[in-house]
Amino acid sequence: MVAKIFILAFLNVALAQELDQLDELIDHLSKNYGSKIGLLTPSNYASVKRILPDGVKPVYVEHEQDLTKMVLNGSIVAALVSGLPEKKYHDALHIFSSNLVTMHSFLMAPDLSTDYPHGNSENLSTYHLSLAINAAQSKMQLKGIDLQLAIKNAPKQLIQAHTCKEDDQTQFAVPNKREAVGLLRDILDSQEIRVLAQGPADWGINDGNYLLDPPVGFYPDFLEAVVDEFKNLSGPDKELYGQIKIRRIFSNKSPFPWYYLFNGTAHLTEPYFILDAPYAGSGKPCTRDDQCLETETGYEKCTGYCRHASRPRYIMLRSSCTSLGTDSKFYTKRNSRESGGSSNSGLVVLIVLLVVFVAGLAGLLKYQELLETFK
Ligand SMILES: *[C@@H]1O[C@H](CO)[C@@H](O)[C@H](O)[C@H]1NC(C)=O
Ligand SMILES: *[C@@H]1O[C@H](CO)[C@@H](O)[C@H](O)[C@H]1NC(C)=O
Ligand SMILES: *[C@@H]1O[C@H](CO)[C@@H](O)[C@H](O)[C@H]1NC(C)=O
Ligand SMILES: *[C@@H]1O[C@H](CO)[C@@H](O)[C@H](O)[C@H]1NC(C)=O
Repeated sequence: MVAKIFILAFLNVALAQELDQLDELIDHLSKNYGSKIGLLTPSNYASVKRILPDGVKPVYVEHEQDLTKMVLNGSIVAALVSGLPEKKYHDALHIFSSNLVTMHSFLMAPDLSTDYPHGNSENLSTYHLSLAINAAQSKMQLKGIDLQLAIKNAPKQLIQAHTCKEDDQTQFAVPNKREAVGLLRDILDSQEIRVLAQGPADWGINDGNYLLDPPVGFYPDFLEAVVDEFKNLSGPDKELYGQIKIRRIFSNKSPFPWYYLFNGTAHLTEPYFILDAPYAGSGKPCTRDDQCLETETGYEKCTGYCRHASRPRYIMLRSSCTSLGTDSKFYTKRNSRESGGSSNSGLVVLIVLLVVFVAGLAGLLKYQELLETFK
């Protein structure tokens, strides 16, 4: 009887194994083929896929709270986010780094050239826009506003992974307001910047809850801070760019409608887009190949949507200087009650049980007391 209790208790501890470190999680995933990992977008998966063992099943969930609930109710083993879950869940979770830095940036269509036969031209050109966005973003970063926003929207861990130096503002000589062409012209004339966005979704009030109007969190604040700098830009003639409103063009479509960047529906994307994710075509609905964009290997293939072989985003699109880096985090359910929750806790419980078991055998404890130990 006592032995049976011991075995049950042992199994309980063994099953409630704490996955609180990357190597333990990877080990668990490789031993449990078909384990499910929850993510917000396929891009999040693409950026960490290389460190996951074969047979892991990605599950895409739109809102971060549902992701957390699924970790807590055991329907997925772990979640992976490029931010952090909301503070209120931290006591119930183990949160640990994937040791991979994910780079984020504003993405635009490239301009037409021999390298970019699918690019934009004339009034859709993005060259002037990219100069202005890079100038505005680097001014904001130089003031340290991105860090302030991370603190304001804590918990938000920001990794300053920048592809452009911020301390030399002459690098982004922006065009005069009167001489601006392409999509920058359209923004200045319409006093509106149309931003292609994923969602609307709730990624937590710390990262961004876009279900609220106006949205709250780090990413909405980040975009606003860049646009605030954008309004104050001027070319050599000192004429200010002036008032500009943000209009988000949300999409949850799969494939993602990148063609909005190519046909003028949106000027650029949100700053949170993952740079090291694949791009597999403009995603335009179509019935024939020749309705699609022309690329260096001919038209994209029409399979209901315009698609082509996956390429790195930075090769097919124009990226701004990187906005930020994030340390993608895994989180798993915390089973142990102590807040420390180290991986040794299971071992400690086992040792205590063993002592109790031996003591029980030796008749040092009454059976009743033994049962209470296992409650
Ligand atoms: C776990 O939570 C998710 C999100 O709330 C829910 O959709 C799912 O049905 C739950 N699964 C179980 C096994 O309780
Ligand atoms: C833009 O310029 C105005 C007027 O000089 C100033 O009040 C405002 O703080 C500036 N905004 C930013 C983001 O620098
Ligand atoms: C771009 O595509 C969208 C969706 O198909 C369409 O509504 C819009 O009119 C197009 N814009 C231009 C400028 O062609
Ligand atoms: C670009 O020019 C075309 C043709 O002149 C026009 O239909 C389109 O609306 C313009 N697009 C933008 C974004 O200004």
